[in-house]
Amino acid sequence: MALDFTDKVVVVTGAGNGLGKSHALLFGARGAKVVVNDLGGSGSGEGSDASVADGVVAEIKASGGDAVANPDSVTDGDKIIQCALDTFGRVDVVVNNAGILRDKSLHKMSDDDWDMVYEVHLRGAYKVSRAAFPHMRDQGYGRFVMTTSAAGIYGNFGQANYSACKLALHGLSQTIAAEGRAKGVKSNTIAPIAASRLMGTVMDEDAMKLLRPESVSPLVAYLSHDSCDATGGLFEVGAGWISRVRWERSQGAFFDPAGFSPDDVEAAWEQINDFSDATHPTSPADTFRAIQANPHLNG
Ligand SMILES: NC(=O)c1ccc[n+]([C@@H]2O[C@H](COP(=O)([O-])OP(=O)(O)OC[C@H]3O[C@@H](n4cnc5c(N)ncnc54)[C@H](O)[C@@H]3O)[C@@H](O)[C@H]2O)c1
Repeated sequence: MALDFTDKVVVVTGAGNGLGKSHALLFGARGAKVVVNDLGGSGSGEGSDASVADGVVAEIKASGGDAVANPDSVTDGDKIIQCALDTFGRVDVVVNNAGILRDKSLHKMSDDDWDMVYEVHLRGAYKVSRAAFPHMRDQGYGRFVMTTSAAGIYGNFGQANYSACKLALHGLSQTIAAEGRAKGVKSNTIAPIAASRLMGTVMDEDAMKLLRPESVSPLVAYLSHDSCDATGGLFEVGAGWISRVRWERSQGAFFDPAGFSPDDVEAAWEQINDFSDATHPTSPADTFRAIQANPHLNG
């Protein structure tokens, strides 16, 4: 049977354009009641235009779906969640997608460029999630999808502000996954690649055609569905490719915690960097287990 969202209330931030719009249309077509949030500003975060969210709501309704427009900034996340509660009475899914770009290399970065990107991507996702999480805990059900970026996972020239905030979103997601585990609340992170107005400046026309936002939304919908058990995951997705990314750790080298030198580190450098027999830690407990395996601690 097709995955269905009837009776589910889904909030998609930044749903007026690009990826968010594609997610919202898919949720709407699958029976969800959708809160289409979009401030309607420029790609670098200037201005606002409430009609941007209205247009997507009109599209969902024209196809027989149910949706409400919300023009607030994600930095007022509590207002967006209140809109979901006032209109539809609950909130089941939050897709944190809103974003802007203010690309500058670090030595040219202004505090304003840093702060704006932080406000929208990280503080905004925090505010929306903070407002939604208690309702999800109380009802014993909820799904979050955070939107990071390859720039966040790997770093990218000219995107110090963006990459820092984007990877932080995965940290937030992993902690929501931990705190929500016993309460039926799951959280995952996607790193999409899609043609959009944010990518228009860095991609040629042929690449833009291949990278449809509609190729990202099926993963977002699956991660948001009852039937999906994944939580704390990180997925790269684009142009019909979906892959999971995880941490990998070398076996490492042990030293005597009573005292060791930089020369000891140099001597063990190859072993520290040797990924044969690597492990894939998933929690701070795995770090403590590794530390406790130090033979110097065990006589
Ligand atoms: N397109 C890609 O290849 C790509 C790659 C990696 C990550 N991402 C991320 O995916 C997300 C969507 O990007 P997109 O490419 O669809 O861009 P987009 O510009 O087409 O859409 C982003 C939307 O967010 C809205 N928005 C911006 N600030 C907001 C705020 N304060 N409150 C509410 N809405 C706000 C904008 O009005 C816009 O409609 C972003 O978080 C972006 O960083 C995109």
